[in-house]
Amino acid sequence: MSELDLNNIPKHVAIIMDGNGRWATNRGKDRVYGHMNGVESVRAAVKSAVKFGIKHLTLYAFSTENWDRPQKEVNALMDLLVTTLVNESNELFDQGVQLKTIGDLSALPEECQESLEKAKSKAPTPCTLVLTLALNYSSKWEIISAIKTMMDRGLNSTDIDETTVSKYLATSDLPDPELMIRTSGENRISNFMLWQLAYAEFHFSSVLWPDFREEHFLEALLDYQNRDRRFGGVSQSGN
Ligand code: IPE
Ligand code: IPE
Ligand code: MG
Repeated sequence: MSELDLNNIPKHVAIIMDGNGRWATNRGKDRVYGHMNGVESVRAAVKSAVKFGIKHLTLYAFSTENWDRPQKEVNALMDLLVTTLVNESNELFDQGVQLKTIGDLSALPEECQESLEKAKSKAPTPCTLVLTLALNYSSKWEIISAIKTMMDRGLNSTDIDETTVSKYLATSDLPDPELMIRTSGENRISNFMLWQLAYAEFHFSSVLWPDFREEHFLEALLDYQNRDRRFGGVSQSGN
């Protein structure tokens, strides 16, 4: 922690929480056991983000493609979401965490939608962290939805620039993530924030999500702080 440059903390970190199934399979258990244990890592990631002074944490929790999983697993994930929200929302509020979501919630079971709306309606002051859950989210869905809304509102091609598109995305009130972390050793982004990650730094960790703790988060931040972010220009050091 002492190695961390507190003047160079990303404002927004996005995480693809991956590897729950393999974590469970490695232990001879059902995949759902992995998701249950992944909740502890979510708790730890939120605490770490608050501790490191990160203002926005976005967690990819369920993609539009994850409906293709066995019904039993999908149901268990939805149940887990409800239980976690019910159990954790007071604790999140006490920590000053504001919950948000991105994704098409209308396809989620009624009970999930209700729990989410209830948890999101609590607005802590001061707000220390905005925690955004990407649920039934995919970047292609989001971009198509943005295009449809722009067309429905009668925008002309001359009205459209980067700022306009950003405004019509589900993340309109979030800054773009400076850092994206994916666990489990998979080096891909699986339809996650294609637009917003245009200039993000990527940190791929081999740790499976249920094992992800503060030390791994710190490792990702230190890796980020060692990057030379050029944004198409030249290095600040002139090299
Ligand atoms: C991530 O873990 C959780 C979700 C996608 C909901 P996985 O369930 O994808 O775990 P692996 O990748 O199969 O190990
Ligand atoms: C990405 O993980 C989605 C979430 C973490 C919610 P997946 O496990 O679904 O991605 P793929 O199938 O390995 O690309
Ligand atoms: Mg996976």
